[in-house]
Amino acid sequence: MRIDLISAVPELLTGPLNHSIIGRARNSKKVDIVVHDLRLYSTDKHHKIDDYPFGGGAGLVMTPQPVFDCIESLKRERTYDAVIFPTPDAEVLDQKTVNRLSLLANIIILCGHYKGIDQRIRDELVTHEISIGDYVLSGGELPAMVLIDSMVRLLPGVIGDAESALDDSFQDGLLSAPVYTRPANFRGAKVPEILASGNHEKIRLWRDKKALELTRKKRPDLYKIFINKK
Ligand code: ADE
Repeated sequence: MRIDLISAVPELLTGPLNHSIIGRARNSKKVDIVVHDLRLYSTDKHHKIDDYPFGGGAGLVMTPQPVFDCIESLKRERTYDAVIFPTPDAEVLDQKTVNRLSLLANIIILCGHYKGIDQRIRDELVTHEISIGDYVLSGGELPAMVLIDSMVRLLPGVIGDAESALDDSFQDGLLSAPVYTRPANFRGAKVPEILASGNHEKIRLWRDKKALELTRKKRPDLYKIFINKK
């Protein structure tokens, strides 16, 4: 998978893109992530990328010229399966959408200001709009990182234990069962005995039961969907 990330504040992305699972996935060439500084595409002599909104109102709006130039230059190099714009006024991202997007070969993610990008960019260039939740952030960089992290961990070979991404909360529509490590007794709080029993069938049943209990308690909305599907 190749991801081209367009941002006017590329510094915001350097930490998350260079460490931990994403950093390792990049180093081992499991994913290619290229960051483009939007200001470098501006033909304005001050490298301006935004301007006042027509009709008045607070905040600046990202102008079409640098975005069109940047995306058009990328499209001259290769074909893209999606141009994704993170924005709060869109459908909320879920695991099903992440799974689907993680199968694409080449994608562009365009980070905007919350106050907006010129609508012509959305009309003519953007193919997918995603929100990461019903709250407002000041720009698209953090949502872009949320999307990238959720996709990259699903790519083949990125997570060591092949099963562990499939075990994630939400992959089967339920939250995950609790996990424990050593010591078996920490300050008097003991690990459930069954987990140390070595009986894999019993452990599986215990985890299924806990996942169901936790989902019913914490996310009754997901529980209802799960029960109705069965
Ligand atoms: N940009 C600002 N807020 C956002 C949100 N909640 N989701 C995606 N993009 C955003």
